[in-house]
Amino acid sequence: MTDELRQPERPAWKALERHQQEIAGCHLRGLFAGDPGRGERLALEACGLYLDYSKHLIDGETVRLLCRLADGSGLRGRAEAMFRGEPVNVTEGRPALHTALRLPRAASLLVQGRDVVRDVHEVLDRMSVFADGLRAGDRRGHTGRRITAVVNVGIGGSDLGPRMAYSALRHHARDDLDVRFVSNVDPAALAGALRGLDPEETLFVICSKTFTTRETLANARTARAWALDALRDEAALARHFVAVTANSAGAAGFGIEPAATFPFWDWVGGRYSLGSAIGLATMLAIGPERFRELLAGSHEVDEHFRAAPFERNAPALHGLLAVWYASFFGAQTAAVIPYASSLDRFPAYVQQLAMESNGKAVTLDGAAVTSETAAIVWGEPGTDAQHSFFQLLHQGTRLVPCDLIAFSRPLDPPAEHHDLLLANAFAQAEALAFGRTAEELRAAGVPERLVPHRVLPGNRPSTFIIGEELTPRALGALVALYEHSVFTQAAVWEIDPFDQWGVELGKELADRIAVELVAPDEPALHDSSTNALVRRYRASRRPR
Ligand code: F6P
Repeated sequence: MTDELRQPERPAWKALERHQQEIAGCHLRGLFAGDPGRGERLALEACGLYLDYSKHLIDGETVRLLCRLADGSGLRGRAEAMFRGEPVNVTEGRPALHTALRLPRAASLLVQGRDVVRDVHEVLDRMSVFADGLRAGDRRGHTGRRITAVVNVGIGGSDLGPRMAYSALRHHARDDLDVRFVSNVDPAALAGALRGLDPEETLFVICSKTFTTRETLANARTARAWALDALRDEAALARHFVAVTANSAGAAGFGIEPAATFPFWDWVGGRYSLGSAIGLATMLAIGPERFRELLAGSHEVDEHFRAAPFERNAPALHGLLAVWYASFFGAQTAAVIPYASSLDRFPAYVQQLAMESNGKAVTLDGAAVTSETAAIVWGEPGTDAQHSFFQLLHQGTRLVPCDLIAFSRPLDPPAEHHDLLLANAFAQAEALAFGRTAEELRAAGVPERLVPHRVLPGNRPSTFIIGEELTPRALGALVALYEHSVFTQAAVWEIDPFDQWGVELGKELADRIAVELVAPDEPALHDSSTNALVRRYRASRRPR
């Protein structure tokens, strides 16, 4: 910690608590009416993204106090420690160096005497050669047929990043390569992913940082059996399976040679691994050059986050606003609404990023936190979302800060659709902020009995993020914006955003129960509820 005091005891925190009471009595209508320049003043442009944060329950004083809070939390020093490769993942005693994955070739970063930039570019080069070969039809399947399908097998960070990026950048992907993703151990998921594929033309990319994740190994084994059933030769598998992992021994144990293994390192967290070899499926789809543009977009935001003063720093402000609502307004959730259908997996991606990182209840030194931490992140693309859950956002009883994300230029014609899409995005931010009053409704002739039903209170905060076009570079920038926003939040809450101990117990129990489900005798090792569920399943899984 930067001083002896816990965060909520610090002067900046206390000042924000007092300030929140004042702001809570304001309405965005009044804030805008009293400050005609607000919409342009509370906005900033960075790395190709325009971030409008004027429709938040804030004023200039809020921004000043939040930046003071960031200062007092040592955000600058913590960020520098991360960029330098210090062990900022304190509970696992290692660096969190996703930012090194996008350093340019000419850079150098020594971590324990080793230049990690050299390692990063060595792997990027290997990935590029592999991707170019496969895309050109030079690297073929065992029987000499061209690879026409890629199946990424992985879960969590080994799935969500490449899956999201592939979907987002599909427009830039080639049509003659069918890229699919399987994560869930539900047999229906793999069956669905394999449906219609020809084993002679299919490449499996087995992605697992640890190479111990049960779901991924189960899917990988079944995929291997599927391929072998058709190819009838163990040697053939070398042309149809590659691994991406920080555990090359694990991949070798599975039968994937070092030559077909693309490594990454324990200093890359799973949910931060899109820029590593975990992005291989995305690179195969869009090509190495475009993949490097994605990295360049992230790098640009890294530099911005490192250098810009907090009050002009897009990720820092984004993160501080998240703290403002979670810790000072008690907001339970935050919505991410991309007005770009190809960002359909982006909310799920941010969900893991934010919730696995900051879903913590103890500080770095193990003390209980004294404020709320990460909000529950959720969302779906607009305009679909408007026709499902936006009702609650407009008239429900909860405060749900929203991010609306859009791009000025369409990827596909006709342009009129894009105009309509953007009109909806702007309209929703406006409606959330300003709502509709009873007076306005009466003036429009709405019958009195319907007035209470039709009032929209407004004052619902949102950030509008708009870029020029959904290019690889823009996506890279967006990813890094959220990564550093999450880091900012963690710094203020003084928690470790890079571990995820909370997921371990469930894995252990599942291992134990998996054995019990098929054991000859009925076990009674659990609580009465779990025992009853296990018993019921055992009875019904017996062959009829
Ligand atoms: O269970 C959580 C988790 O460890 C995530 O943090 C990670 O992204 C995912 O599982 C997959 O892990 P791996 O890449 O090691 O298979």
